[in-house]
Amino acid sequence: MNEEDFDKVIDRFLPYRESREKGAEYRKTYGDVFDRRTLLAFYKLLKRSIEYVEFPISTGKEAIVFRARGKHDELLAVKVYLISRSNYKGLSRFIDGDDRFEHVHKTRDNIVFIWARKEYRNLKTYHANNVRVPEPVDMWKNIVVMQYIGDEEKPAPLMKDVMESLKRDFVFELIEEMKNMLRAGLVHGDLSEYNILVYEGKPWIIDVAQAVPKSHYLAPELLARDIKNIIKIGDKLGANLSKKELMKELEVI
Ligand SMILES: Nc1ncnc2c1ncn2[C@@H]1O[C@H](COP(=O)(O)OP(=O)(O)OP(=O)(O)O)[C@@H](O)[C@H]1O
Ligand SMILES: [Mg+2]
Repeated sequence: MNEEDFDKVIDRFLPYRESREKGAEYRKTYGDVFDRRTLLAFYKLLKRSIEYVEFPISTGKEAIVFRARGKHDELLAVKVYLISRSNYKGLSRFIDGDDRFEHVHKTRDNIVFIWARKEYRNLKTYHANNVRVPEPVDMWKNIVVMQYIGDEEKPAPLMKDVMESLKRDFVFELIEEMKNMLRAGLVHGDLSEYNILVYEGKPWIIDVAQAVPKSHYLAPELLARDIKNIIKIGDKLGANLSKKELMKELEVI
């Protein structure tokens, strides 16, 4: 990417394009986080599905999520996996043994791209099977573009931040989602109130990169953990779920 292309990419990051001064600040802030490859990936997506990037809504250890606008002015969530923070060993566990990626050549260098692709594919599968997940829109390299959950004012809150406002029945809604996820053939593996958004009274499941097929060697362990978490959530919401009943309901025994 030449200097001019680089400028084109950062020009589409708002609100930084508003002032020259902020443009410089942008370079400093985002230049540290975004490497050349990520900016190149953005360059591609800015031609395809993203019109401009508004602001970050979450900065995590491994990924930054931005609010953005699509080509029709619609809100988008853009999840950028940080190439520099990718943990080869940690991610490999969830990729090895997954038939869908059997023939993909995995290296330290490209693992984060496989990870983003995995999240996109998992979102597609869940979405096609009526799991309430953000609809996947596009992806390239380490960037996943998806439906934004929330309104013009603010993103939907995480379940953990609105626990007090939830009724007991909410856990049954979650069980429905879990059923659909299993029908889709994928165990989420990181289901908790940190990866569930609450929007218009309904649970929205996010952060699905680690989800594995039911046949995967980690699936039993991950499923057991998800079930434990749902029971814990049930406890907090005043629904005492029996593990056995729940497993029956999920058709796993
Ligand atoms: N589609 C979305 N719409 C609105 N907000 C979102 C969306 N996706 C993610 N977010 C926000 O971004 C935060 C981080 O997203 P997510 O849980 O997918 O990534 P993460 O936990 O940082 O990723 P990692 O797996 O690298 O730890 C969420 O807690 C949520 O607040
Ligand atoms: Mg998360």
